[in-house]
Amino acid sequence: MTPRTFLSLIAMLALMAVPLSPATAQDAPVIDRSATGGATTLEDILLRQQGIKVDNTYRRDATGNPELAAPIQDQLGTLGGVSQSEDWQALRYNTADVTVSSRVPAAEVIMQDSGMAWQKFRSGPLLTYGGWLLAGMLGLLVLFYLVRGRIRIDGELSGRKILRFPAVERFAHWLLAGSFVVLGITGLIQLFGRYFIIPLIGHETYAPVAIAGKWVHNNVSWAFMVGLVLVTVFWIAHNIPNKHDLKWLAVGGGLFSKGVHPPAKKFNAGQKLIFWAVIVLGFSISASGLSLLFPFELPMFAVTFEKLNALGLPQLIGLGELPTTLAPHAEMQLAQLWHAIVAFLFIAIIFAHIYLGSVGMQGAFDAMGSGEVDEQWAKEHHGLWLAEVKAKSAKSATPAE
Ligand code: HEM
Repeated sequence: MTPRTFLSLIAMLALMAVPLSPATAQDAPVIDRSATGGATTLEDILLRQQGIKVDNTYRRDATGNPELAAPIQDQLGTLGGVSQSEDWQALRYNTADVTVSSRVPAAEVIMQDSGMAWQKFRSGPLLTYGGWLLAGMLGLLVLFYLVRGRIRIDGELSGRKILRFPAVERFAHWLLAGSFVVLGITGLIQLFGRYFIIPLIGHETYAPVAIAGKWVHNNVSWAFMVGLVLVTVFWIAHNIPNKHDLKWLAVGGGLFSKGVHPPAKKFNAGQKLIFWAVIVLGFSISASGLSLLFPFELPMFAVTFEKLNALGLPQLIGLGELPTTLAPHAEMQLAQLWHAIVAFLFIAIIFAHIYLGSVGMQGAFDAMGSGEVDEQWAKEHHGLWLAEVKAKSAKSATPAE
């Protein structure tokens, strides 16, 4: 895989439906390489520097033919029919017949050239855009707070409490939330440490912090996955979209104006969006995390690309067919980048959730704290759910005839 294909894949992964370079192999001019005997010319180099994709089959296929070598017993015979540069070429393009004694999956790959592109993307756009995404979300929340203030309960508190989440559901939520916060912090330390923490505390102090952070990150991931499965099981039925969601969305859930309370069942449309984001991003980040936790054992990108190609999605957005044979290292690089991209999106969304579940909305935290909310809060934010719960308890209180 060339660095350009690699970057294009990342662009696709980041759901930015824009091919990185408008130029394709078809646009590249036909190059006369007779002067170099078929090897790379200055024109090739200049085109590559301009970011134009050059068809590299002239190099990729130039891996020598041992049959053409003069036999060793002949005068001026050779020890082998393939030159060193041809050997290196074959190694680079993964076509050399390599035999190694180690049996681990990555051992036969002697050379893999997308490492540089991965490293550049990781320390460049990933950090820059990811960092700005988080800072932007925090800025928006501060702005929202300044403009709207805390969303207060409009009516008088009733003093009557109603159970919103039983202990087992609160346990699942806090298992998920607690592990998420730990994973987020330790993950960001790994990603930003070199640039922001080392200059502050130095290499010597950072090293044990990074090692401990990695250990914690790897092990706490299991708690996150358990929490995710529990939350999915407990709440999926309540998060199926219904007709009330459209009404809720049409008035922005009343979040932007006082006294507006669209009807909602157990979860409103905004919470459903959060729920589904947690499920989709949560399972995706777990899958790529497992792939990183067991290096080379759980490759998942080549198979995913095969399925995407079959659906025609990458072709639709101009990326052409995605590679379906990836070196084990390329699988790891993509897993790392995907893991981090999903993490940034996830953290940004959760910032908004944490804000609304705590300081942003009066009475919301109780639902996950004690598990009980005031009836007035329930009436304003989940009117249909309150009516359902009341109807149920009235029914069970009616003595059987
Ligand atoms: C750490 C601070 C957090 C606080 C203060 C918090 C607070 C809350 C509260 C109060 C609710 C109930 C809302 C209601 O009564 O309708 C809730 C629900 C929920 N929380 Fe959290 N939460 C936190 C972190 C997280 C994290 C990290 C995740 C996921 C990774 C998460 C996922 C959910 C989901 C899926 C729901 C149900 C849907 C929803 O209400 O949006 N929470 N949270």
